[in-house]
Amino acid sequence: MRLIYVCVLVWLVTACTAAAKPSLYQQLGGEVAITKLVDGLLVKIEHDPRIVHHFKDTDIARFRSKLIEQLCHISDGPCQYTGSTMQESHTGFQITAADFDRLVQHLIDVMTELHIPLDAQNELLARLAPMYKDVTYR
Ligand code: HEM
Repeated sequence: MRLIYVCVLVWLVTACTAAAKPSLYQQLGGEVAITKLVDGLLVKIEHDPRIVHHFKDTDIARFRSKLIEQLCHISDGPCQYTGSTMQESHTGFQITAADFDRLVQHLIDVMTELHIPLDAQNELLARLAPMYKDVTYR
């Protein structure tokens, strides 16, 4: 009987700990931080002659709002992503692996400037990594 009580207690503690774990969206700092992240990224792109040419005909206001939505959505925040698929939006740009790495490095730099915890940075990058194949060489 005592064993059952112990098991129930362990289960409760485990369940409560899991429930209390903040979402990635919360760890990143929510809407305010994600907006700052995207705005910081736009400034880095603007000042990077190695990749800025890809954006010469881009509607930057749309890009900004879709990227905010997307980062909110993939970090389990309260948003739906309403933009194009990664394959659709990157086809025709011939984005290379080096271009991809540059953009990711800018993202890391901005997250660091915003004091986003390393665990949350790594988790966001892990969720973005599978998009590589849809973004590059199309
Ligand atoms: C995981 C990495 C990336 C993510 C999550 C991402 C996300 C997005 C999003 C959400 C859009 C807007 C889609 C829409 O308008 O509906 C977009 C568009 C765009 N992305 Fe990316 N992107 C990534 C990597 C890159 C890289 C590495 C480059 C080039 C260096 C790039 C260049 C562009 C350009 C030029 C557009 C605008 C296309 C247009 O003008 O229609 N992206 N991206």
